Amino acid sequence: MKAHILKLLRTSGDVVSGNALCARLGASRVAVWKHIQKLQELGYDIESGARGYRLRSSPDSLHPWEFPGREARMVYHAEAPSTMDLAKDLARKGCPAFTTVVAGRQAQGRGRLRRVWSSEEGGLYFTVVLRPRIPVRWSSRVNFLASFTLASILRQGYGVDAGLKWPNDILVGGRKLCGLLSEMESEGEQVNFINIGIGLNVNNDPPKVQPPAVSLKALLGREVPRRELLSRFLDALEQGIAAESWDRVVGDWKTCSVTLNRPVRIVTTKEETSGVAVDVDENGALLLRQSDGTMATILYGDCFLQA
Ligand code: BTN
Repeated sequence: MKAHILKLLRTSGDVVSGNALCARLGASRVAVWKHIQKLQELGYDIESGARGYRLRSSPDSLHPWEFPGREARMVYHAEAPSTMDLAKDLARKGCPAFTTVVAGRQAQGRGRLRRVWSSEEGGLYFTVVLRPRIPVRWSSRVNFLASFTLASILRQGYGVDAGLKWPNDILVGGRKLCGLLSEMESEGEQVNFINIGIGLNVNNDPPKVQPPAVSLKALLGREVPRRELLSRFLDALEQGIAAESWDRVVGDWKTCSVTLNRPVRIVTTKEETSGVAVDVDENGALLLRQSDGTMATILYGDCFLQA
């Protein structure tokens, strides 16, 4: 109902009478008024007068009704512990692919290697449930597709020089703009679900600790609507998955890489390795030439670019 009310007010751009809204929605005046009141409480500036209602401005809302066509698969919480846990629960209960859990902020946001992901108001924090029909050994290709898709949108849609650091961070000028975390469950050899969690510094001020971070707001000198960004990303990712071009995913990712041909240090919870990042194989492993000339295949870890 709220999606419909907003659509009618937005297309009109002017005052829409209560009678017209009721007729178009097939709802009573009281029902329409209750929805308008709720929207006003949530920050929508809706003028209401004798002639009807007019939408003056909308907040940067991430509620389901702001994603026409996706409403039924969008879940929004003003505050959540971590969208990863909520999405995992839904995925295990059989929710459809592209169910997306979004949080305004997270109390226990987490990153790779058990790090805390600071999740203050203004950032974009979400987990999308994917169910690609692929074997488990290809699962990391989904992460590469997601990070490449988002980097492309940031470059083309926002003019940001987004680079990809292995495995899936998005950096701008050496500072971290976005991190990606994935969790997968399988049935035998087939993927059951892969949940991709993304934390993107949009209008928040990321903490000034290692690694150096940056927000879109700081890069562009203006606030950026998160709704539009998320919507573009979900549409593009859905197209990317439907294309099933799994053989070209890592190649596409390499075109935006800031890791290859650079000296790097790789840290896991257990060990540290250094060398030159020579390549990424078709399943996303990093091929590292070590100082003694031997090659190492790194399956996971945190990558630090060396000077
Ligand atoms: C990393 O760079 O270490 C990955 C960070 C991933 C953060 C996102 S925010 C949304 C989702 N929920 C979480 O708790 N983590 C991911």
